[in-house]
Amino acid sequence: MDAQIEIRQRPVGRLDDLSRTSLMSGETPLEEMRNMAARLGPARLFVKRDDLTGLAFGGNKVRQLEFYIGEAEAKGADTILITGAVQSNFVRLAAASARMKGMDCHIQLEERVPKNDPIYRNSGNVLIDKILGATLHTYPDGEDEAGADANLGEMARGLKAQGKRPYVIHLSPGHAPLGALGYVDAARELLAQCAAAGIELTEVVLASGSGHTHGGMLFGLRALGHDALVTGVCVRRDVSQQVGRISRRCEEIAELLEMENPVNSERDVVLTDAFLAPGYGQLNDDVIAAMKLAAETEGLITDPVYTAKAVCGLIERAKQAEDGNAIVFIHTGGTPAIFGYERDLGAALDAAS
Ligand SMILES: Cc1ncc(COP(=O)(O)O)c(C=O)c1O
Repeated sequence: MDAQIEIRQRPVGRLDDLSRTSLMSGETPLEEMRNMAARLGPARLFVKRDDLTGLAFGGNKVRQLEFYIGEAEAKGADTILITGAVQSNFVRLAAASARMKGMDCHIQLEERVPKNDPIYRNSGNVLIDKILGATLHTYPDGEDEAGADANLGEMARGLKAQGKRPYVIHLSPGHAPLGALGYVDAARELLAQCAAAGIELTEVVLASGSGHTHGGMLFGLRALGHDALVTGVCVRRDVSQQVGRISRRCEEIAELLEMENPVNSERDVVLTDAFLAPGYGQLNDDVIAAMKLAAETEGLITDPVYTAKAVCGLIERAKQAEDGNAIVFIHTGGTPAIFGYERDLGAALDAAS
């Protein structure tokens, strides 16, 4: 059998038996970034275009939502509830997925970023949430995962009392990491594409937030017997907090898939928080330089919260790489947020030009 077909069909625990719905437009492209590589060193650089997953401006969360919405459908839900930052891509895509499947969506927007800018509060993802007709709620704390989840639970009970059938998407550890399964599957897709193109994958670089993308990709690669280094770029918490989160995610994935955890936490969980300052959803000079580099070398648009910070990590890794290395950057989307950050970005780009 063709190597790429064999990889695509390789079982990973119960992955192919769990509830899932179809939201993606198809596989996302794997593209070589020759111009960026020419600037950064001897490694070959590639981008996995998960900003092109299709639905409502795309992004990594579409892969994750295939499993959440699949479970919601299996349970007969008619309303999705989710919490996130004001400019959250996840809540935007949860609302779009709900609409695609004929459901309502309640979104809770948390105060994670200290910003009173009306553009941040109304444009970008928020505007799309409104176009999708999601019901918007607010939560005053952005660092209280358990409290935000409990508040969603409260809302769900209220909706149930009105005769609705709510389904809550939880992000905090301790809940089944269904979203990570989208990236266990993405590891299969990526390895099959590398096999088809004759790419000897040595490293993956991606943004590490809730940890579903990072944990899922790392778990998937190891479960498929691949030892590529996976470097997570911290976008929300520092390394000391994120290491435990990713390790725990991998254990939870193993439990869900009813298989042994192939990830060795000490060796495999690799993170950098060098580009996190001054904090989640806030710009720094490296982010602006990375956004400009990706755009000016490859025409690639990244966002200030997640993907431009991850490009900072890619730049660092590419500069340290050796000839023959092949590094894949996972572009996890987030593009609509650039409009929410219009003021800060505009000023920083003017100052940088
Ligand atoms: C565009 C984008 N990239 C990366 C991430 C981080 O993914 P994860 O939460 O799976 O770690 C997010 C999370 O919301 C995101 O919206």
